[in-house]
Amino acid sequence: MSKVVRLGVNVDHVATLRQARGTVYPDVLEAAMLCVKAGAGGITAHLREDRRHVQDADVYVLKENIGVPLNLEMANEPEIVGIALDLCPPEVCIVPEKREELTTEGGLDAVGNRDTLADTIVAMQAKNIEVSLFIDPDPDQINMASELGAPCIELHTGTYCDSMGDAAVAELERLIRGSELAHELGIKVNAGHGINLDNIDGIMKVPHLDTLNIGHSIICRAVFVGIEGAVAEMQGRMV
Ligand code: PXP
Repeated sequence: MSKVVRLGVNVDHVATLRQARGTVYPDVLEAAMLCVKAGAGGITAHLREDRRHVQDADVYVLKENIGVPLNLEMANEPEIVGIALDLCPPEVCIVPEKREELTTEGGLDAVGNRDTLADTIVAMQAKNIEVSLFIDPDPDQINMASELGAPCIELHTGTYCDSMGDAAVAELERLIRGSELAHELGIKVNAGHGINLDNIDGIMKVPHLDTLNIGHSIICRAVFVGIEGAVAEMQGRMV
């Protein structure tokens, strides 16, 4: 029997709604707890340097109360690394971050940022934090994750999710090969970005997946079917 893929729900956009009006609602913890009740095996939150959605207090409240592992998405920047080392979430995922971007664009350049990543990975591992690197399905980047001793990668699925026709077929093959390479290297494989109900069937063809981190499409779908319904609906398709 194939292994069940864990769903990690990214709750950033619950915080986006709150920040849009400067209110105290919707409550990010309440949303996360409903996701967990509906079957999410993890909760993800991205503490961006510009704090456009998730705030520092959110990640502390989430970590203490969700009852499943918190995956903190973060840039490899000293201020955020300091917060992560203080918070000690079970998992962190290091992502590239540009202030002007709408959302994370592309994977991390692990090859180009080898030295600074090495320092951060060592510091995180000293605190028993599992580090994942958010990278494109590029063999050079995957090999560098292995060289750096990262126990986990998150494959960037955004390019596949945004493409169609032959380009989508080619990118899905790249994701499959990338996952196979990481698996051979003993690295745990997660994936995420841009996943929705229209592309999940393709994503599920990628082997060796541990976790899919999905945010925007679930929070959007929640407007129509409620957050528990949106989580259950996605999970029902993760087969
Ligand atoms: N994984 C990573 C590393 C991300 O940066 C994001 C976006 O914050 C996601 C997953 C979730 O992407 P989406 O909101 O498109 O589902």
